[in-house]
Amino acid sequence: MRMKPTRNLVLGLCSMLVLGFLYYSSGRLHLRGWGQKSLYDKQGFLLRLNSSLPLELMYKYGNLSKGACKPDYAAAKMTAIYPKFSKPAPMFLDTNFRRFSKIGNFYPPFGIKLQEKMINIILTATKNYGLGAELDSLSCKRCVVVGNGGILANRSLGPTIDEHDVVARLNEAPVRGYEKDVGSRTTLRITYPEGAIQRAERYEADSLFVLSAFKSLDFKWLRSMIFNEKLRNADGFWKSVARHVPREPSEVRILNPYFIQEAAFKFIGLPHNNGQMGRGNIPTLGTVAITMALHNCDEVAVAGFGYNMSTPHAPLHYYEKIRMSAIKESWTHNISKEKEFLIKLVKAGVIKDLTGGICGSGC
Ligand SMILES: *[C@@H]1O[C@H](CO)[C@@H](O)[C@H](O)[C@H]1NC(C)=O
Ligand SMILES: *[C@@H]1O[C@H](CO)[C@@H](O)[C@H](O)[C@H]1NC(C)=O
Ligand SMILES: *[C@@H]1O[C@H](CO)[C@@H](O)[C@H](O)[C@H]1NC(C)=O
Ligand SMILES: *[C@@H]1O[C@H](CO)[C@@H](O)[C@H](O)[C@H]1NC(C)=O
Repeated sequence: MRMKPTRNLVLGLCSMLVLGFLYYSSGRLHLRGWGQKSLYDKQGFLLRLNSSLPLELMYKYGNLSKGACKPDYAAAKMTAIYPKFSKPAPMFLDTNFRRFSKIGNFYPPFGIKLQEKMINIILTATKNYGLGAELDSLSCKRCVVVGNGGILANRSLGPTIDEHDVVARLNEAPVRGYEKDVGSRTTLRITYPEGAIQRAERYEADSLFVLSAFKSLDFKWLRSMIFNEKLRNADGFWKSVARHVPREPSEVRILNPYFIQEAAFKFIGLPHNNGQMGRGNIPTLGTVAITMALHNCDEVAVAGFGYNMSTPHAPLHYYEKIRMSAIKESWTHNISKEKEFLIKLVKAGVIKDLTGGICGSGC
């Protein structure tokens, strides 16, 4: 009998907790199932997007002088349209990578399962896991992700691109000869083996070579490049790969595969396929790089993104003659679903599209 008040108290506490939880989760789920129309789409993005600044951000950034770098801006805007966003996610794998639980249970490209040993060997050799002392110490970083689209040609955006603290380029996109349009600085060159520059003399000085691994073979390839070993078996690649990367181990990084996982399953909503690579569930490298930037940069700009299929004769890439009409239906990517995601980012002003190709005339 004397236990009863305690029990009532416990029961009362429990039901309060349950109610509190329900209240909390309904807030998180935005009252879905409570008879109200959801304000959010299937992916969890706000349905009504516009680029005006939420009041609390207006207050936060209102005092900064015009043109000053706004700390945490991209993440704050992202959170405003996608409340599930959580900023912390390191750009590159470091020696604590096993503790980043989100990637431990997925195989490549979405995680690191069964690659732990190989990654350890690579990281022990590279010994460096950041952007470098100068960039790491900046309190506000502006990044630009330069895509390879023909839309960059003849726009003279080079100087604008070069103004950013971090310039990320993708795969073999050249710089020399195109400086006027694409800039001359490269902080990161993010690539997978099949996309890597093959001719050693085409590598620019002092950029970090960043592997975005899409399959387990890609880690093996990187190990061969770092230790200058002959690549024993090149069978599993879908086209020829570089046999030598003229970079010191200290200039090599492994991109955190979480960005592939998050872009595919959370942001774009590609088929989960039990966490395995499957038809149409691999984001393009450009979107992976933008996802990385949302977590690691204060302001994010992009250039050279967006294919315009109604101009079949326009160049596909800024550096070669192949035309838009040569683009093939892709087994791995889902370009149209991916574009829906990028449009949300541009529409809401999370990222700034310097070439305007993501929205075209459609935003
Ligand atoms: C902006 O400036 C006003 C007036 O100087 C000040 O009261 C306010 O606290 C400042 N806001 C921030 C976020 O620094
Ligand atoms: C860019 O300008 C050059 C030289 O004027 C021209 O040959 C080329 O076709 C232009 N490219 C595009 C995509 O407009
Ligand atoms: C892309 O996504 C759309 C909508 O979910 C789907 O209908 C289409 O089949 C997908 N394409 C590929 C290549 O998977
Ligand atoms: C594609 O190009 C056509 C012709 O230049 C233009 O009218 C249209 O607005 C463009 N669409 C996009 C999405 O950029």
